[in-house]
Amino acid sequence: MSPTDAAPWRLPGFWAGIRPKVWSAVGLSPVAYADEAFYADEQARLFGRAWTGVALASELSRPGRLLVRSVAGKSVLLTRSGDRLRGFLNTCRHRGTELADADCDIAGVIRCPYHRWSYSTEGRLVAAPLFEASPPSDFDPADWRLVPLRVDTWGPIVFVCLDEETPPLDVWLGDLPERLTAYRLEEWELSDLDGATATFDVGANWKLLVENFAEYYHLPWVHPKLAKVSRVKDHYRYQGPGMYCGQTTTPVSSDQHEDWVVLPPATGLGASDGASGRFVAVFPNVLLAVLPNHVFLILLEPQGVGRTIEHCTFLFPPGAVPPAEDERGRRRFAEAFETTRQFWVDVNDEDIDICERVQRGVSHAGAPPGPMAPRFEEPLNRFHNMTADLMTLESVADLVVPSGDRPGDVDLYGTKPNPMPPPIEVEAARRARQTA
Ligand code: FES
Ligand SMILES: [Fe+2]
Repeated sequence: MSPTDAAPWRLPGFWAGIRPKVWSAVGLSPVAYADEAFYADEQARLFGRAWTGVALASELSRPGRLLVRSVAGKSVLLTRSGDRLRGFLNTCRHRGTELADADCDIAGVIRCPYHRWSYSTEGRLVAAPLFEASPPSDFDPADWRLVPLRVDTWGPIVFVCLDEETPPLDVWLGDLPERLTAYRLEEWELSDLDGATATFDVGANWKLLVENFAEYYHLPWVHPKLAKVSRVKDHYRYQGPGMYCGQTTTPVSSDQHEDWVVLPPATGLGASDGASGRFVAVFPNVLLAVLPNHVFLILLEPQGVGRTIEHCTFLFPPGAVPPAEDERGRRRFAEAFETTRQFWVDVNDEDIDICERVQRGVSHAGAPPGPMAPRFEEPLNRFHNMTADLMTLESVADLVVPSGDRPGDVDLYGTKPNPMPPPIEVEAARRARQTA
């Protein structure tokens, strides 16, 4: 048995503190945030088997676009072939050369720089120069396709999964697509406005960023300004079955600060979606804030046990951004966006500061973790359990996607019923009554 096979976090005992319901659970061990060996195993067992968000679908809308991403320490290529997105390991089938080192445009083929073997966007080997003259015996190009990977999309996000046994993405996401269906997020657009994308290099473990996103306990102290547009008392549960942690603010109030409501809202939203913010951490690395008029999306890219890159993107409802020829409309939109953007940047800076501080605390102290606040931190308990499942399962085919709230569950957590529940929750309650 190798040392990794004997790693304590592969055994149930390591996770005993997080397995009870939130009322008697504690947080994760500092080892999970600060131990190099844990991080290495987490890359293999968690990121190597999860559906990981890696790109925006719109980044692949242009024919001939090739993206290079990193998942679980492996370099991954993404292309579009007709309507279909494809993913491959970034390695030539001849002698293994890395095929691309950055996003680029290709003229229909992926060409290896070493001996010019070339592959179609479906991964077929289409040329092996000088090889055909005297090929090795039994050489059949069909045997030398690029190594394919699982790729799928939901809404604006491209996901990659390195493991064949992981349940499909629609099972992974549970009811989330249905929950957010009225937004038609797949149509929301990236803009070339200044600041619509940004990258932050954060000195904290990726899980601290997820946890911080998934709880609003810290709002009054870390974000005094945010707490005025997204008031703690207006936060409710938004949790159905699926590998995600959801919460909602209803309404997104504008009584003291209007930073979130200056942009024009999407059309076609019902009363609940049109008045709410949906905040969803899709396990493991997608942080999605959906407002009636914009989306703020963060894809987390772990770089080490104490370092994470945040890839941040704003998206807008279809048609919201005026075209370039409408100079006045565009200027007005850009001003409104700048208010929204600055607001998020300030909030994100505050989050980064506090998460880096947590990283320092868990790294040097190593003290046992403390209890969770049931009213606010149940999503963290859910996240810890999903993490534990991935780290302990021998076969990811055995993964059980966690269930969601049942009618009445909100009272258990000390959360009052949402005054404007999303239709899906009304529907779920109706179904539950029917089957009772
Ligand atoms: S290693 Fe790619 S063509 Fe030789
Ligand atoms: Fe925060």
